[in-house]
Amino acid sequence: MAEITRKWYKEMSVYQIWTRSLCDSNGDGIGDLPGVYSKLDYIQSLGVDGIWFSPIYPTPNADYGYDISDYKNINPEFGTLDDFKKILDSAHKRGMKVFMDLVVNHTSDEHEWFKESMKSKDNPYHDYYFWRDGKKKGGKKPPNNWLSIFEGKAWEYNKDLDQYYLHVFAKKQPDLNMDNPKVREEVKSIMRFWLDMGVDGFREDVITFISKKEGLPNGFPIPIACGIEHYKHGPHLEEYLDEFRQVLNEYDCFAVGEGPMTSLKDAVNFCSEGPGQKLDMLISFDHMNADCFMADWIKIPFSLRKLKKTFDRWQTQMYGKGWNSLYIENHDHARIIERYGNINYRVESAKMLATMYMLQCGTPFIYQGQEIGMTNLKFDSINEYKDVMTFNNFRLFKMLGFNEERFLKLSAKVNRENARTPVQWNSSKNAGFTTADEPWFKINPNYTEINVEAAEKDENSILNYYRKLIKFRKENEIVIYGNFKQYYKNSGKLFVYERNYKGQKLLVINSFSDKIVKFNAPDGYDMSKGELVISNYPVRGQINNCFELRPYESRVYLFK
Ligand code: GLC
Ligand code: CA
Repeated sequence: MAEITRKWYKEMSVYQIWTRSLCDSNGDGIGDLPGVYSKLDYIQSLGVDGIWFSPIYPTPNADYGYDISDYKNINPEFGTLDDFKKILDSAHKRGMKVFMDLVVNHTSDEHEWFKESMKSKDNPYHDYYFWRDGKKKGGKKPPNNWLSIFEGKAWEYNKDLDQYYLHVFAKKQPDLNMDNPKVREEVKSIMRFWLDMGVDGFREDVITFISKKEGLPNGFPIPIACGIEHYKHGPHLEEYLDEFRQVLNEYDCFAVGEGPMTSLKDAVNFCSEGPGQKLDMLISFDHMNADCFMADWIKIPFSLRKLKKTFDRWQTQMYGKGWNSLYIENHDHARIIERYGNINYRVESAKMLATMYMLQCGTPFIYQGQEIGMTNLKFDSINEYKDVMTFNNFRLFKMLGFNEERFLKLSAKVNRENARTPVQWNSSKNAGFTTADEPWFKINPNYTEINVEAAEKDENSILNYYRKLIKFRKENEIVIYGNFKQYYKNSGKLFVYERNYKGQKLLVINSFSDKIVKFNAPDGYDMSKGELVISNYPVRGQINNCFELRPYESRVYLFK
């Protein structure tokens, strides 16, 4: 079997921060960097080894930071470069790495490059973007039929230039023309700017979209993201990734790329170690589709078999070649308890889900609030929402006959904004997130019960369970480097897998059922020889090869 090379990034667990909702230090209702700084003790106490910041650059907030107007500065709402350097320095002193979000598929339309590009067709920045003449008589039709992922057509008309620019996301997110070598130089210069400052690597936003097919041909007609087949893995993607990799190689850093539709085969190709390696890990979406079809909003009943099959493929086919990233929450998805877990068993299912994903092979990411089991929030009106994607989906679902009420009901289950409500620190006003009367976004009223302070006091809290898991992973090489083998693949109730390393075995047993489920040890196991190392229920007495699992129970046994 392939011996896995040891790397620091394989041994870490990472905490993801969406700054706007973490903690507000100056009472303006918006989370900020001094707020993050004030929580470093807490973040360190989780046992994580790194922090990934969702974008903290200047931005007009069309996509809350994923529309950048200056790549070498800090969003003034969040603070200053000095505030950032203070965090970087303090994190490093604590032995934690810091990763930035690198968003280079597009900029903000308020970025200087775009403003210049709009000035004239012969402006040196014009070719930084995809400016094209319209089609048909008088150019009155966009250059092709592409539709954006966030906002209607993928083309926006500019009267002065009498041209259209491409935006596969929102109108205020024009796509960069990566085929222009000057644009690639800019990207490399941005990377160096942060790496020279001491940043330890990047999470690369929709990096697999950066190459568009020559000639921008029409796409297959679908009502959203039409044209995506021409850029989801464009002709020059691998070349450009190689080029950026050369910069990364000059530093002791790592890069995890977001690949919304990337196949496992391509992921193995991108992440395989050795010459030609493009990325250290990939953020895949496959395992986030166990209760939806293609996208979160097209909801179908949760299928454990689908989830297991996906994990199994990624675990076994990546092993010994590349490295997986592991996550079940981030700023783009609703809270996991209400997707793959059960709100009626909030604590049990949150712990089970944590066990299920964190003990697989890969680097686990934990999204702010996940570690205390934060939940979704139902809004009373569409006007309470903030995100361009929500409004676009409202428009689309209205065409399908949804009224506001029905839309809000669906949204409370699937909307990514569910993950963006402020972190609940304590039971005081506004959950201790801000001293302002009005936080920038609604706080989940369940903060009086679900909050960090309460979780700290409860030794059986989800929070303390996460700490245990993170510590266990760190102290046991089998969790980091062991291979993966699944049992009972056909079970619709249990997800059981084994990790195997240097003669040791770890058996991870997870029940996804709200009923009692019988468990039989897999062939060859003598459970009485195992040491129970993690569990989300009290377990007493002698363990036989057959026992009953309680709702959403997790047990992890180590066999030496
Ligand atoms: C990525 C980000 C998401 C953002 C989109 C456009 O998917 O994670 O939040 O809206 O890219 O930048
Ligand atoms: Ca603030």
